[in-house]
Amino acid sequence: MHKLRSFSVAKLAKVLSRVSPRLKSTGGRPSAPLGSRILTNPDDIFKHNMWDHVQWTELDKENARQKAEENSCVQIPLKEQGAKSHATNTCLHDQLAAYPLSTRSSTETRPHHRNTDTSNQETCQGAALEKNEAHIQTTTFPGQHASFRILEVGCGVGNSMFPIVNCIKGTDAFLYCCDFSPCAIQLVKDHPEYDDSVCHAFVHDICEEVASFPFPPQSLDVILAVFVLSSIHPDRLQGVVNRLSTYLKHGGTFLFRDYGRHDFSQLRFKKGRCLSENFYTRGDGTCVYFFTKEEVHDLFSNAGLEEIQNLEDRRLQVNRGKKVVMHRVWMQSKYRKTYPPSPS
Ligand SMILES: C[S@@+](CC[C@H](N)C(=O)[O-])C[C@H]1O[C@@H](n2cnc3c(N)ncnc32)[C@H](O)[C@@H]1O
Repeated sequence: MHKLRSFSVAKLAKVLSRVSPRLKSTGGRPSAPLGSRILTNPDDIFKHNMWDHVQWTELDKENARQKAEENSCVQIPLKEQGAKSHATNTCLHDQLAAYPLSTRSSTETRPHHRNTDTSNQETCQGAALEKNEAHIQTTTFPGQHASFRILEVGCGVGNSMFPIVNCIKGTDAFLYCCDFSPCAIQLVKDHPEYDDSVCHAFVHDICEEVASFPFPPQSLDVILAVFVLSSIHPDRLQGVVNRLSTYLKHGGTFLFRDYGRHDFSQLRFKKGRCLSENFYTRGDGTCVYFFTKEEVHDLFSNAGLEEIQNLEDRRLQVNRGKKVVMHRVWMQSKYRKTYPPSPS
């Protein structure tokens, strides 16, 4: 029988770093990895569209802080936030759908606490692992026979997923992708490159606490979230990451890319668009949060994951025609689910 090549996180990272046609379709967010085009001579600024590893001066930081303070000094009253957000959750052609803002739930805000009784913890984890292995072997689910499983949440129309699909053919990997927009999922399924022997797309709202996934807990090697967690209300985010993390195998990786604090797109919001600190609503009803490194770190470590990488990708984006320069800030992070301590 034909032997399948083995897939890995490193191979996935390589695929993602090549996903570059998204530059236009995603409102100017680059998907290329951190590059090496460094602006050393300010006179060269209009020679390229993008410069990497840009250091902010104290003045840049102060200007950004002031702009964010100005555009968030008026916040949309809570009762209007609900009405606004429920109004728009329709079909999407351009990636986006709105997320209903709702009140905090007790499970979502509760951080992931470690059990302090370690002997009990080890026994429970060992038993849970065995039970889970048995469960994976006895239940039937798409991708069951793969040994490397990836989930992309908020996949939209598949900008990241199709390059992954093409790369995992002939390997031992399987890709799941979900979005809460049925329209996005339909577009993904109708795509000529959709291939249900290597992927499975389904409608799923990651904020939904009771909705189940089409695979068992602890069955995923990678979870990928690209510009999706920013659209979720900050009060719900911890619950979302906690829940998603339960589907990672021990040693599995959470890959995250999203907007960073004081990115150009935050600073250009007009007054009256702010919902709460660093959280805004766009004209199309979708929402966006702008993360700091510390917030990202707390989010993933509270879910029991350990940092592999957590960086701010600061670039200068240049519109050479209009001679406009924009400071862009994106977060790029990798967190891993730790192995349970081995029984002594
Ligand atoms: C900005 S788009 C990014 C799409 C894709 N990840 C990309 O980078 O091209 C955000 C996507 O997340 C989806 N989304 C937002 N909130 C979601 C939720 N609670 N559950 C599932 N999908 C969600 C939206 O429908 C949209 O397709």
